Amino acid sequence: MAGDFNILGMVGSLRKGSFNRGLMEAARERLPEGANLTVADIGNLPLFSEDLESDMPSAVRTLKQQVERANAVLIATPEYNYSVPGVLKNAIDWASRPYGQNSFNGKPVAIMGASIGMLGTARAQYHLRQMFVFLNMYPVNQPEVMLPFASQNFDSEGKLTNETTGRLIGELLEALVGWSRRVGD
Ligand code: FNR
Repeated sequence: MAGDFNILGMVGSLRKGSFNRGLMEAARERLPEGANLTVADIGNLPLFSEDLESDMPSAVRTLKQQVERANAVLIATPEYNYSVPGVLKNAIDWASRPYGQNSFNGKPVAIMGASIGMLGTARAQYHLRQMFVFLNMYPVNQPEVMLPFASQNFDSEGKLTNETTGRLIGELLEALVGWSRRVGD
């Protein structure tokens, strides 16, 4: 793959001090050579409505352009009520529209997640994988990065302290780049 490898990050929490934002920053520190990371601002998107599709809001146009320009997508998400947080679902729905102009089409994607519960976002991650079928995305299968008991695994500045998870994030990024060489454009 020639040139830079552009990864678009999406974080499913808008919370100041979000553990999942912390995972994304941990990924930034472990990028493979030649890869760069831009994190999308999904907090400024309006709530999805098909009525707005004929004249896409500018924040949506920006997101769609970022997705289309990326070689791969990296998602860090919490689990809300055993599933994907609405803020992330809203962003995914927007970038997948209008019908026939799904910006995610054919994109490689990797997932990671942190929760304060004991399953470390497993249920939300499998719901995302279900969406990837309809979105025609190519998810990295392994490693699975699911960090439980998140409050014990970040320092007071929000930096990841769990070395195993840090190593897994590095492996996930390597796998994303390698997988993209095989399936991406
Ligand atoms: C949660 N949380 C949560 N945790 C979990 O493991 N499984 C779940 O189903 C839920 N459900 C849930 C719903 C809602 C509405 C909230 C606000 C929270 C707790 C969640 O793991 C915790 O708030 C994390 O800290 C959220 O991630 P960030 O914001 O730190 O990235």
